Amino acid sequence: MAKLWGGRFDGKNEAWIDAFGASIPFDQKLAKQDLIGSLAHVKMLIHTGILTKDEGEQIIAGLKTLQEKLAKDELTFTIENEDIHLNMETFLHQEIGPVAGKLHTARSRNDQVATDMHLYLKEVLTEVVAKIHHFREVLVEKAQEHIETIAPGYTHLQHAQPISFGHHLMAYYQMLTRDEQRFTENMQRADISPLGAAALAGTTFPIDREFSAKELGFSQVYQNSLDAVSDRDFILEFLSNASILMMHLSRFCEEIILWCSHEYQFVELTDTFSTGSSIMPQKKNPDMAELIRGKTGRVYGDLFGLLTVMKGLPLAYNKDLQEDKEGMFDTTETILTSLDIMSGMIATMKVNKERMLESTQKDFSNATELADYLASKGLPFRQAHEIVGKLVLQCIQNGHYLQDIPLEAYQAITPLIEEDIYEKLDSYTAVLRRHSLGGTGFEQVQKQIDAAKAQL
Ligand code: ARG
Repeated sequence: MAKLWGGRFDGKNEAWIDAFGASIPFDQKLAKQDLIGSLAHVKMLIHTGILTKDEGEQIIAGLKTLQEKLAKDELTFTIENEDIHLNMETFLHQEIGPVAGKLHTARSRNDQVATDMHLYLKEVLTEVVAKIHHFREVLVEKAQEHIETIAPGYTHLQHAQPISFGHHLMAYYQMLTRDEQRFTENMQRADISPLGAAALAGTTFPIDREFSAKELGFSQVYQNSLDAVSDRDFILEFLSNASILMMHLSRFCEEIILWCSHEYQFVELTDTFSTGSSIMPQKKNPDMAELIRGKTGRVYGDLFGLLTVMKGLPLAYNKDLQEDKEGMFDTTETILTSLDIMSGMIATMKVNKERMLESTQKDFSNATELADYLASKGLPFRQAHEIVGKLVLQCIQNGHYLQDIPLEAYQAITPLIEEDIYEKLDSYTAVLRRHSLGGTGFEQVQKQIDAAKAQL
């Protein structure tokens, strides 16, 4: 079949080479945006008098028919027509005849595809921001339930100091807040119209780029036609933001996976978010959390794929840019589903409060309390640290904990230690007393949650 761009070609084409060059198997995802972009372009051509009203209206009617057919899934794309743009142009010919050929006046597929990508990403960003927002709500609600749930806080994955489990959840809330900000800011770079840059240099036709931009809901137009057709920063930014988001989700999933293990037993996921084993009847595996951790790799891959595509590209359009699509689609699907899973998984997760508390009572995570106690009574902190360190060693040798040492024994070491030490050594009190701004004290966590509720 003759190509729409086939005028200067007389050699025959090979189907397998055409297939290699085609993007229609994946860029058909842009069908909706492509039609919207064409509608704005033809309205601009009428507005500027480049096309007559009659010609323009025939094209508009044709494009609207295609919109209806697309909605009813009645368009069959073909690989011979290479990409979404040439497929649509062919359909338009079939609808309205040769006047369809006038649509491409003062436009190239280069500014057309860039326009489609901007429109597509704008929609995606809105959806991503909404889903992150929802997940933040879930986190705040869960944190509110667990302000006074005492959990071990870790450094180096070793018990460090007891914390409020609500505080732990709110740490993820804070990360997700930054993620939401980043995707929101991404919108500024997606919200620019490349339409009218034409192939690379603009056009001799008296087009009105502001007009078509407004039609499409873009708040700005690219100021440089070369940049307009070769910029993919807005997608790279999206993939970077998505990579950071997935890194956050993956860290959270890693913790959930640990917490579900027999050694921890801190949480239990509902059956919906778990799977069994085909051989071991007892198994309940946190597969969804593992998959989100795993899928983080493909999102990083999508970012690195596009960064690598871009790094050597001379201006302006190069066919390499066709490789911007699959990664963006893949990342979109991955993060939208991952966010849904996270929201559902956390909202329904059962927290084993007793088990968490218990694990802060049979450990030395109250050692800092004792050192702080001595320091608050005037002993230099370094000296207090040394004394407590030695005590911990003795306890380990004798098989008990700091709270098991009798008062006489404490006072033999230093009379600074009095009866009130036992209350201070209690993990609940240890958390309660951490009043410093942003600390894990219950009041501070409540403040953090209140601020989050106000933000949301
Ligand atoms: N399918 C192409 C892409 O996705 C559209 C632009 C083609 N332009 C060109 N001059 N070959 O990038």
